[in-house]
Amino acid sequence: MEYQNLSIKNEDNILVVTLNRPKSLNALNKQTMDELAYFFGEDNTPKQLAIKGVVVTGAGEKAFVAGADIKEFLGMDAEAGSKLSRKGNDIMFAIERFPKPVIAAVNGFALGGGCELAMACHMRVASEKARFSQPEVNLGIIPGYGGTQRLIQHVGKGKAMELAMTADMIGAAEAKTLGLANHVVPAGEEVDKAKEIINKIAKKAPLAIAKIIECTNAYYEDGANGYEVEINSFGALTRSEDFVEGASAFVEKRKADFKGC
Ligand code: CAA
Repeated sequence: MEYQNLSIKNEDNILVVTLNRPKSLNALNKQTMDELAYFFGEDNTPKQLAIKGVVVTGAGEKAFVAGADIKEFLGMDAEAGSKLSRKGNDIMFAIERFPKPVIAAVNGFALGGGCELAMACHMRVASEKARFSQPEVNLGIIPGYGGTQRLIQHVGKGKAMELAMTADMIGAAEAKTLGLANHVVPAGEEVDKAKEIINKIAKKAPLAIAKIIECTNAYYEDGANGYEVEINSFGALTRSEDFVEGASAFVEKRKADFKGC
């Protein structure tokens, strides 16, 4: 697939993915959704081991992503609405389950589907200019890309209900206090901070990082027993070469040289 709305740069083995429709505040239209699905699906499966992680950000001064493209909503019937929501949810799950760290560098408005995209990433670094909201009730709908579920996970039930029902927009500092943003940095430094975190993680054992992602997600997954996922993952990792290397390096008082196998 040729990317039109995503600009992708490989910066020292970190893929910086910029949603690039600044005139529409990077709203998620069909083409952008198709590109996100492709990027977090087929395009990266074979390359996953080769990259350190992914940073997702928005082009322009104003927005990370201002939500689903409202202009494409006109004339949408119930069947198309359900299909759109399912597709959005599938993309967010693909991001959440991506085996390398995915960090949202939230540079401005993260509204509706934009807030949902940020929440599906493993972490969020917010610029001081970031603004978060689930404003769908203003349009007569509800969050449709997993927002009703992930907002609770980040901020708890009462606050999630308040934010989704009032459509209040919150700033970066409040997002951090609520647990929605991991870090707040001066505007323009959010991508660098996200890369700094990914570079730190890249020094650890890659298979263990993938298992951290899997086990953490299991806590929230319907029908999954997170403790069992942890037990099985722990067992699997003790068979890895990196475990032998990590334990040997500790005993020999040297830095481990992990290979991802
Ligand atoms: N979809 C399509 N176009 C959008 C958009 C969106 N979500 N958000 C902004 N734009 C467009 C505007 O239409 C405008 O385009 P034109 O110049 O062609 O008119 C351009 O981006 C700039 O926007 P504004 O002039 O409105 O900029 P502003 O600074 O005055 O306001 C804003 C910024 C507060 C973010 C405002 O644009 C806004 O409220 N946008 C809509 C936010 C929203 O409701 N998002 C939720 C969408 S629904 C959803 O996401 C459902 C889901 O869960 C999947």
